[in-house]
Amino acid sequence: MFEDEAVSGSLLIRGASLMTARADPVRCGEVLLSGDRLAAIAIPGHATCLPNTESIDAAGKVVTPGLIDCHTHLIFAGSREDEFEQRLQGATYQEIAARGGGINATVQRVRRASKEELKALARPRLERFLRFGVTTIEVKSGYGLTLVDEIKCLEAIAELNAEGPLELVPTFLGAHAVPPEFRNDRDGYIRLLIDEMLPEIARRKLASYCDVFCETGVFSLAESERILGRARDLGLGLRLHADELTPLGGAELAARMGAASADHLLCITDAGIDALAASGTVATLLPGTAFFLGVDYAPARKLIERGVKVALASDCNPGTCPTENLPLVGAMACTQMKMLPAEVLTALTLNAATALGRADRIGSLEVGKQADLVIWDVPDYRHLFYHFGVNHAWRVIKRGRVVYAA
Ligand code: NIG
Ligand code: FE
Repeated sequence: MFEDEAVSGSLLIRGASLMTARADPVRCGEVLLSGDRLAAIAIPGHATCLPNTESIDAAGKVVTPGLIDCHTHLIFAGSREDEFEQRLQGATYQEIAARGGGINATVQRVRRASKEELKALARPRLERFLRFGVTTIEVKSGYGLTLVDEIKCLEAIAELNAEGPLELVPTFLGAHAVPPEFRNDRDGYIRLLIDEMLPEIARRKLASYCDVFCETGVFSLAESERILGRARDLGLGLRLHADELTPLGGAELAARMGAASADHLLCITDAGIDALAASGTVATLLPGTAFFLGVDYAPARKLIERGVKVALASDCNPGTCPTENLPLVGAMACTQMKMLPAEVLTALTLNAATALGRADRIGSLEVGKQADLVIWDVPDYRHLFYHFGVNHAWRVIKRGRVVYAA
């Protein structure tokens, strides 16, 4: 069977243990890639030398699907170590935001940056993600907050996606904060979002999703519903920053509106958990943010036990989680939220793919799926989160091509 499917551009990975992120997850054997697809999986001892097939000896190593980061704010300029220090001295995230820091501090920097500058700042971040085994990444706008600046950010995302090798999924987050020029006219800003930004972005197909920062003092439940409702009417998928700092009921709203994902959920209530369980909405947890803000983690075990599909992501952003180390986020999920290594791996692959509406194409090792995978230099998949804080990625493969080698 291998012979039939072996075409030029095939790659055989031999001898690794496989974490497929599907039923019967841990297997030992071989993976055959043909072009940009997975052609065969786990046929131990099968022909190891096929015509036109390059092969990689991965004995003693572990193969997983490429990691998927389903929540990042990758497009930004500047950094906020000043706020980091203020928080260490007792200030809260909300206090810093109220005095003009926080999201709006980054907005000022992004408005001054050109699209080329934003892309140049994003490339090394993407490179770091890739080295940590991440092959697909969701990227939000949300630091422009004018039509021109939001479009500049979304165009940067589209152009970086076209450059490859990482695959970028664009999300419009114009409702990230009310910008200073609308401080006394928040309804004016919401009208701008609904009447001008969303239609233009939908028309130009610059975003797959619309997100809102639904939070006390940011966008209320009613405002979030208005914005998301308009986005849904325009054909965009929905996601929501929900119950991050206060238990506002964002999870219930996300579930009711059929959002692909409700994210953060540090303060989710029991009613919110029930709502997510009853809907298909994925709970995307971001333990790096709780770690960096020094606050309590989301109730991952409770979510899992009540049947909610849980994904994990970095939240990579300059304010609340400046990191590209997604495996470290996985280690935090283990030690701080008591997720098991296998649950973490599923959360970083198949469930993250579901949160991005792409589980039919990426997120697991299955014949026919896109050949996005990572060979880790670890003896056992649990080692990935056990030996934490370092990079175990040995080969990163995107669409059948080795795009990073340690
Ligand atoms: O996901 N919560 C809103 N947005 C980001 C923080 C962005 C920032 O502080 O710059 C988050 O934590
Ligand atoms: Fe976020």
